Amino acid sequence: MQHTSQFHLRLAAQDDLPALNALIEASVRRLQANDYTPRQIDGALGTVLGVDTQLIRDGTYFVAETVGRLPLLVGCGGWSRRRTLFGADCGPGRLPELLDPALDSARIRAIFVHPDFARQGLGSLILSTVEDAARQAGFHRFEMGSTLTGVPLYALRGYVEIERIAVPLGNGEALPVVKMAKIVT
Ligand SMILES: CC(C)(COP(=O)(O)OP(=O)(O)OC[C@H]1O[C@@H](n2cnc3c(N)ncnc32)[C@H](O)[C@@H]1OP(=O)(O)O)[C@@H](O)C(=O)NCCC(=O)NCCS
Repeated sequence: MQHTSQFHLRLAAQDDLPALNALIEASVRRLQANDYTPRQIDGALGTVLGVDTQLIRDGTYFVAETVGRLPLLVGCGGWSRRRTLFGADCGPGRLPELLDPALDSARIRAIFVHPDFARQGLGSLILSTVEDAARQAGFHRFEMGSTLTGVPLYALRGYVEIERIAVPLGNGEALPVVKMAKIVT
């Protein structure tokens, strides 16, 4: 598992859920504030933006902790061999069927960094860990539904925009999301 002098990555467990939910809310409310309105964020938290516990059960979701005597959970992210492109357990468009590595793109899912640890390379570390794990499972193409906030990082890492979609939210708002893809050799 990935380890730097600052961060240690490990597979997420069901016990991590309360800390993961708190991390995701802090991440979204601070780091997405320039990209989405408070009403869009309120409508998206817990549905479009949140943990898909299927990934924890599949062993494809990671958490990042600080290195030290009292590790803090400061990041998360995963990949999926299932068709669902984004969203938490109760999110829209749940498609649990398995993808074929020879034909399909692995899904890159739900990368969130704690705002106090942003712009320190943690998002990049989580992304490369997740891509490596998907590659080890035989996938050579990756796809994601990125928030507007994620686009600069993913573009830097070779992802290209496929299309922009507006995901309808329960409170009448819509969340603009960018479908992005990357092929690795
Ligand atoms: C998107 C996110 C995961 C990036 O995490 P991070 O740890 O800050 O990213 P990194 O430090 O690895 O960034 C690497 C590079 O990506 C680019 N980048 C990252 N965030 C950026 C931003 N907000 N604006 C512009 N460029 C950005 C920069 O080039 C950065 O390098 P630099 O800091 O040397 O300029 C983080 O902002 C986040 O958690 N956002 C809220 C949740 C979210 O929207 N996640 C995406 C879900 S699909």
